[in-house]
Amino acid sequence: MNRIFAPLFSCALGFATAGLPAAETIWLDALDLTAMRQGWGRPQVNRSVTERPLTIAGQPYARGVGTHATSTYRLRLNRGSENFTANVGVDDAAGGSGSVVFQVIADGKRVFNSGTMKRGQAAKPVNVDLRGVKTLQLLVTDGGDGLNHDHANWANAQFSCSGARPAPHVIPSEAPYLLTPQPGPVPRLNGPVVYGARPGHPFLHRIPAQGTRPMTFAVRNLPATLKLDPLTGIITGTTPPRGEYALTFTARNSAGQASRAFKLVSGDTLSLTPQLGWNHWYAHYNRITAAMMREAADIMIRTGMADVGYDYVNIDDCWMNAEADARRKPDAQRIGPFRDAHGRLLSNAHFPDMKGLADYIHARGLKAGLYTSPGPKTCAGFAGTYQHEAQDARLFAEWGFDFLKYDWCSYGGVVPKPTPLEEMQRPYRLMGDLLRQQPRDMVFNLCQYGMGDVWKWGAEVGGHSWRTAGDLGFELDRIFEVALKNCEHRDWQKPGAWNDPDYIQIGYIGQARGEGLPEPCGLTPTEQYSFMSLWALMASPLFFSGDLSRIDEFTLNVLCNPEVIAVNQDPLGQCARVVRLGEEAFLLIKDLADGTKAIGLCNSGETSLSVSAKWSEAGLGGTQAVRDVWQHRDLGKFATEFKAEVRRRGVVLVKVGTPRRT
Ligand code: GAL
Repeated sequence: MNRIFAPLFSCALGFATAGLPAAETIWLDALDLTAMRQGWGRPQVNRSVTERPLTIAGQPYARGVGTHATSTYRLRLNRGSENFTANVGVDDAAGGSGSVVFQVIADGKRVFNSGTMKRGQAAKPVNVDLRGVKTLQLLVTDGGDGLNHDHANWANAQFSCSGARPAPHVIPSEAPYLLTPQPGPVPRLNGPVVYGARPGHPFLHRIPAQGTRPMTFAVRNLPATLKLDPLTGIITGTTPPRGEYALTFTARNSAGQASRAFKLVSGDTLSLTPQLGWNHWYAHYNRITAAMMREAADIMIRTGMADVGYDYVNIDDCWMNAEADARRKPDAQRIGPFRDAHGRLLSNAHFPDMKGLADYIHARGLKAGLYTSPGPKTCAGFAGTYQHEAQDARLFAEWGFDFLKYDWCSYGGVVPKPTPLEEMQRPYRLMGDLLRQQPRDMVFNLCQYGMGDVWKWGAEVGGHSWRTAGDLGFELDRIFEVALKNCEHRDWQKPGAWNDPDYIQIGYIGQARGEGLPEPCGLTPTEQYSFMSLWALMASPLFFSGDLSRIDEFTLNVLCNPEVIAVNQDPLGQCARVVRLGEEAFLLIKDLADGTKAIGLCNSGETSLSVSAKWSEAGLGGTQAVRDVWQHRDLGKFATEFKAEVRRRGVVLVKVGTPRRT
């Protein structure tokens, strides 16, 4: 029998050595754990996340905290702790092949890393010196294979304290503030300036323009195969033969007019700039209906989101049928046969007319996106595409969809383990080829959480974007860390081939695993602006995934800044490079096509910080003009650097240099 690791006293006083105050033991399980964020379930005191006794590799522990990846717990130590000790590992009751990594981060610096740990592996001892440390983060990430079965135990976890006791870090509350100026009455043309489409396919583009309506549109050099509706700015028709077409868009209203160049590239490559749009997942999960999708399209027009360039309206999981399932309990309207007698995939009763839905979205000049899995079932247990790939690709094209998200999910069950790279690529290569054969442009989004370094081969198998990690909903409080990780893959990104660190989850969102109705996200206003700044600097696809029906002035202000979106949509398609300035300060530097640079002065820390962007770091020399991108304000000329006070977990986004005349 294993001896149970049990403390003699719940709060034992240590022995004082000469002249030193006695150290006090503070147990992690005795702290207020409500601020611990985790990917599934709730933190448990002296129990595993599934509320059983804590055991790691057969060793029981009387005390500790049971949590689930991704788990973060931020503490203020205020230099009062001497050290932290624990035994960490995956709980024995976790099913399957969960794997996790435990980390301890002291004042922004990683002081413990367990490496990947699996169930059955002996606990690893943690013993970190905390003298002088102000803030601590206990972090458990998935082992790079998703969150399933990642039951993580901080067993026997305790602080030895001689001063202030550890206390959960409470995020300071912050009132919403507006950075984006209100659009003026005069027309302003927004959105991409370069656009790829395939010759001979149906063409659809709504010219995004802000300014007082009514407005009229004109296009110079419009190829004869295309037609403009001058009242809506929607261009339809057939993509002209292969080649580059230099068009000029003009918008006019009672207050004035604006013109802008637009390059149409008829060829093989779609998504020459990152996709912009909305995806239902993080707001509505398995509650989504066709009526809500239609409403979403209307809201994107009504709120002006479409006027800054958002144009994809994407359905995620749960539009097909599921089987009756006691655990997941899909609503009765979503239960039914997966396919008809001819193998044709069936949408569920909430989606009675898929073609009608796509037509509705198209009539507003927007594009329609769809979701499925290469496996027999999707992640939420709905019908997948396995062994019906060609038929489904044809069906999606027939319905008129413009975008497909292809989510690995249950495909893991039909491949050998461990899965060779070729097997990981196979379903994506197959669907990539099939989509290319359809008589319409369909953007292909790979969702397999970064397995097999997908950024290295996503484009080769036909993808236009690929998720670089697991669901961001599980680690929303780590957007800086997620962005830094995503930037590591910057060299693989180019026009038509984008790293996708997942959706913008701000405003009203649900819980990451589909529970709960949308509620205000836990990010501070500054963090929400940071989210957009980081995603703009990385040239990541920008999909808002909050509740559009509850969008408010603040969320629109964050989402709809045309200069920030222009950084994202820059035709060079570069993901910013990272220049580390310290544990918590870093720069993100992105070259733009007009010869200027977008620079993010970033602070991932818990208190405001002075951050400086030195021209030498950015490869610039001489005096440079600086513009505040969020506030659309020229800040003046600066000789050697630009310095700013950056709020807690904030980004100051500037454009540096004088645009080259073209
Ligand atoms: C996950 C995917 C999410 C969402 C969900 C649907 O695997 O990463 O973005 O699509 O499945 O069940």
